[in-house]
Amino acid sequence: MSRTLFTVGPVHVEQDTLQAMTKPMITHRCKEYKELHAGIVEKVRKALDTDMEVFLVGGSATVMLEAAIRNGVNQKTVGITNGSFGNRSIELGELNGKTVEKVQVPWGKAMKPEHIAGKVGKDVEAVHWVSNESSTGVFSDSVALAKEVRAQNPDSLVFVDAVTSAFAMDIKLKDLDADSVVFGTQKALALPPGIAVMLCSERLLEKAKTVPNRGFYTDLLKIKKQSDDNYALTTPPVSLMYGLDYQLDRMLAEGMQARYRRHQEMADLVRNWADKKLEGVFPEAGYQSNSIGVVNRGGLDFNDFHSKLKSKGYEISNGYGEVKEQTFRIGHMGDTTPEGIKKLLSVMDEIMEE
Ligand SMILES: Cc1ncc(COP(=O)(O)O)c(C=O)c1O
Repeated sequence: MSRTLFTVGPVHVEQDTLQAMTKPMITHRCKEYKELHAGIVEKVRKALDTDMEVFLVGGSATVMLEAAIRNGVNQKTVGITNGSFGNRSIELGELNGKTVEKVQVPWGKAMKPEHIAGKVGKDVEAVHWVSNESSTGVFSDSVALAKEVRAQNPDSLVFVDAVTSAFAMDIKLKDLDADSVVFGTQKALALPPGIAVMLCSERLLEKAKTVPNRGFYTDLLKIKKQSDDNYALTTPPVSLMYGLDYQLDRMLAEGMQARYRRHQEMADLVRNWADKKLEGVFPEAGYQSNSIGVVNRGGLDFNDFHSKLKSKGYEISNGYGEVKEQTFRIGHMGDTTPEGIKKLLSVMDEIMEE
């Protein structure tokens, strides 16, 4: 049975988007491919209001999170974390042989400049964090964090995981002035998984020239050389690129500010519902995500509740990491609408009343 997904990703993909991906295959060294590639790059820049390099790579977002570390760091980083994906970015640095100083912020709390006070010394080559922590639904102020990093060490690079915030919330790329901003297609772009996107700065490309062992697939200098010619480094997922091009047109037609407001509206619906029906949402007030509602379960038997919800054709997401047993998550990103969320919440109400 097919279910409508209100998950944290992959998320629901509209029928017309799926249809857009069924165009005849083209090779990735032809003129039509170059046009497709160039068009996507331009539309990403326009939608996100940035002039950073846009690198498109086949794979899930993690490949480009790894690329940032592998290209931008010889030895030492600072990794700030307030949840599972922040922890993963630290592991990712360590497994690539870097020394990562971990700054632990309590789960459910936002990462703030004071958490890194005095920690970004001259030996710190990059500071990395997750803009919207998908395990807890906390959206931190990345612009404030980046300013603090640069105030302490102007040479430090800034890597932001924007996997569940890009295209759902305004991440103010010009103010952020980051060196790597990474996301994937299966979240707020409302596409199947399979393309990782990195927005990359000139600073990171310059630094990469001084860092050995960048790999092949993750070598930003190789990727940049091909990208300059509107090619991918290795065989790209062309069908998914048709979908990405289609979705970018949809987003530009909606208007990004309207899109961000729609996400805000959906988040408000979920928060109000959670306040009324359960024990509210998990993250700190003022720093709540507009793409993921992380709801305190209270006494709800989630597994039983969720199997009933699934039998009615809806799927949400379990809690994640340390708060797995105390929360569940409702994804409200991409092409999901406030009407869709209202319908979901009314079905959830019916099940709770039963
Ligand atoms: C915040 C965040 N970062 C990274 C990832 C990993 O992304 P991917 O599975 O596309 O590699 C996820 C996946 O859910 C995420 O939510």
